[in-house]
Amino acid sequence: MSNPEGVRDRSAATKPGRSDDPPVGLASTVESADDAIITQDLNGLITSWNAGAERMFGYSPREARGQPISILIPVDIQEAEAAICKRILSGERVNHYETVRAKSTGAKMDVSVSISVLKEKSKIVGLVTIARDITTRKRGERAAYLLEKRGQEELEARTRQFNAALAKANQELAEHIELLDLATDAIVVLNTTGDVVFWNQGAERLYGWTRKDALGKSPQVLLQTDPPLQVEEIQETLYRQGHWECELTQTTRDGRRITVASRFLSRRDQAGHPSGWLQICTDVTRRKNAEQELRGLSGRVLTLRDEERRRIARELHDSAGQVLSAASINLALLERQVVGLPPKVSRLISESSNLIEQAVNEIRTISYLLHPPLLDEVGVARALRVYVEGFSERSKIKVALDISPELGRFSRDLEIAIFRIIQEGLTNIHRHSRSSTAKITIHKSPTELALMVEDRGQGMILPMIESGDGNGTRLGVGIRGMRERVQQFGGQLVIRSGESGTAIECRFPFAESDKSSAHSSAV
Ligand SMILES: Nc1ncnc2c1ncn2[C@@H]1O[C@H](COP(=O)(O)OP(=O)(O)OP(=O)(O)O)[C@@H](O)[C@H]1O
Ligand SMILES: [Mg+2]
Repeated sequence: MSNPEGVRDRSAATKPGRSDDPPVGLASTVESADDAIITQDLNGLITSWNAGAERMFGYSPREARGQPISILIPVDIQEAEAAICKRILSGERVNHYETVRAKSTGAKMDVSVSISVLKEKSKIVGLVTIARDITTRKRGERAAYLLEKRGQEELEARTRQFNAALAKANQELAEHIELLDLATDAIVVLNTTGDVVFWNQGAERLYGWTRKDALGKSPQVLLQTDPPLQVEEIQETLYRQGHWECELTQTTRDGRRITVASRFLSRRDQAGHPSGWLQICTDVTRRKNAEQELRGLSGRVLTLRDEERRRIARELHDSAGQVLSAASINLALLERQVVGLPPKVSRLISESSNLIEQAVNEIRTISYLLHPPLLDEVGVARALRVYVEGFSERSKIKVALDISPELGRFSRDLEIAIFRIIQEGLTNIHRHSRSSTAKITIHKSPTELALMVEDRGQGMILPMIESGDGNGTRLGVGIRGMRERVQQFGGQLVIRSGESGTAIECRFPFAESDKSSAHSSAV
């Protein structure tokens, strides 16, 4: 070690004259240490000062030695530090501690200090201080602390923001729920297993079950939904088309059966996976009942009209027809009995006779069209053959008839319905289709009667007919009348139309009672 100003070992500190000549060994270890190793005598004066002390505090050994140790201690902690030294000198053991020291520049630095007594021949001669500069560590700790504090503050700020957003979302949700509750419709949200997770006040009002009653339950079971929809079926349909509409019958809490128009809308979570569905149900029971009543009423109107037609046909035939026939006979008698009539009178009688015959024929045709007499007597099959023959002759449209040979007889109302539907179908073909041929099929199976009127004409604009929306065009009563007649018997009418023609198909289901009365009612 080449530092003559350096630290002396303990023995060296007590031997003046040899202080600049430190022995190798302990002194060199002290000298080369990174830490500041400083000794002081009992008066608090610095007696040795190693290179580490010089690096740390900025004083050279020459400057430091002989100075009070307090030059290294900031004024505000000098008293406390003196007390510590006192405690150590009195034999108390003080563990190393962290404190602050002053550099020669006056700058403060964080140090870790350990102080112990310095003895010589068992006698305390001073203190030895080992100090380590921990400014970097402290700075790191402070930075870490600040970082942590900032992280904490940021976290708190974020938490505050999140809470505010959550409160806002809750508020919005509450408002949405309030809006959903205002809706008159029943709005129900279901999870993937088909159980209720939301039930608005509309649903409470419609079904009588409270939200609490319904949550977690299946509406299929709770409301005895008919048709009973399978969860898989709903999900499969929603997966394919996103929404679904149908009419359902359900039971309210007080046992009423109601009809609802139900709309299903699929729900997806943020990842896009199906998370259940939304079901909105509107009570259409009153509308359904009104429709039913209306259908009954129009059925009744049709029946009354048929009866009225039958009466008028008979009256025309029996009264006007008979009177005119009598008049025709009288004229013939007159012509035969009175001889030598002036040719002008004779011509008048003959002309009148022709006019009367024309009137009789017209009355007969009108009476026939109003109510085909054969219908009541020989049944719809034969009455149709006669009617179709006349129609073909007048219209020049070739009509093929395919009627089950074992068709038999039906109730008077059903036979009239069949006849009128075919009559209207053929009239439409004649008026609108431009087809030169037509086909009529009537088939009977154990469960239903199917009838079809087809042509090979230009077709019709189906959506307009189906929706009943005239869109500026006048819609007739013909097809509507057909539909009503079919519905009166609980049947279905389907129209297919395209470039190759039109087909009107009607299906009348047989109720048990119809089947038994089908052959007997030949009224
Ligand atoms: N066979 C058909 N071919 C082509 N178009 C048809 C046919 N039948 C009906 N239509 C079209 O459908 C419309 C509605 O028919 P519908 O029988 O209801 O009324 P209409 O025949 O016009 O009048 P109404 O029957 O009251 O005298 C017709 O106006 C016509 O445009
Ligand atoms: Mg018509």
